[in-house]
Amino acid sequence: MRPLIAGNWKMHGLRADGLALARAVAAGAGDVAAELLVCPPFTLLAAIAEALSGGPVAVGAQDCHAAPKGAHTGDVSAPMVRDAGARFVILGHSERRADHGESDGLVRAKAEAAIGAGLVPIVCVGESEAQRLAGQAELVVTAQVDGSLPDGFAAAGGVVAYEPVWAIGTGRTPTEAEIAAIHAAIRSGLRTRFGAAGEGMRILYGGSVKPGNAAGILALPHVDGALVGGASLVAEDFLAIARAG
Ligand code: PGA
Repeated sequence: MRPLIAGNWKMHGLRADGLALARAVAAGAGDVAAELLVCPPFTLLAAIAEALSGGPVAVGAQDCHAAPKGAHTGDVSAPMVRDAGARFVILGHSERRADHGESDGLVRAKAEAAIGAGLVPIVCVGESEAQRLAGQAELVVTAQVDGSLPDGFAAAGGVVAYEPVWAIGTGRTPTEAEIAAIHAAIRSGLRTRFGAAGEGMRILYGGSVKPGNAAGILALPHVDGALVGGASLVAEDFLAIARAG
């Protein structure tokens, strides 16, 4: 399966530097076999989608509301994200689960809305450090996958991103064996739920992916790409990760 390398810019990027970063990624994409995606903040979606239009780099948002429109001050709906030129949307990132109390049920509703609007959802799951130390990582993650994915997820080309909370932005990662074990467990859950379609769904790893560790991680079975935070803010690092796949 062609790997997907997705950059999650989080709350970074004003117009000038965001556009420069997106253009630098697109300019270096020529020798990259993986599919490339950048997910800038909402304010830059339309400008970056326009700048990258017709090129090799897709654009995604970092969240959307579960309703198509309505009285939800400050929120952005899936049709709005699609209308801005995005094709993907990250949902249920652990920072949103923590900062905004997002539950599996809400993430599932958002994923349904995203699919309805023609977006490809990337649903994030991952255990806390306490859960890993308690030996519950696999249980927590597979329960999150079960609860966060709507039934139409496989048919819509939905993507799962495994991101251990304690590995995000910390420079720490699980061992390759630990990553492989969780990805195998997620795959097995996807097969049970979606049948053959579960085999072809992408499962990304995220959490302190860097140029130095990308090749090892991306070579693991059932690792079909990466969700990259910090390193996606430097075009050369993001491209080096993509080339490692
Ligand atoms: P990181 O973030 O690469 O900075 O650890 C990953 C993410 O949160 O998606």
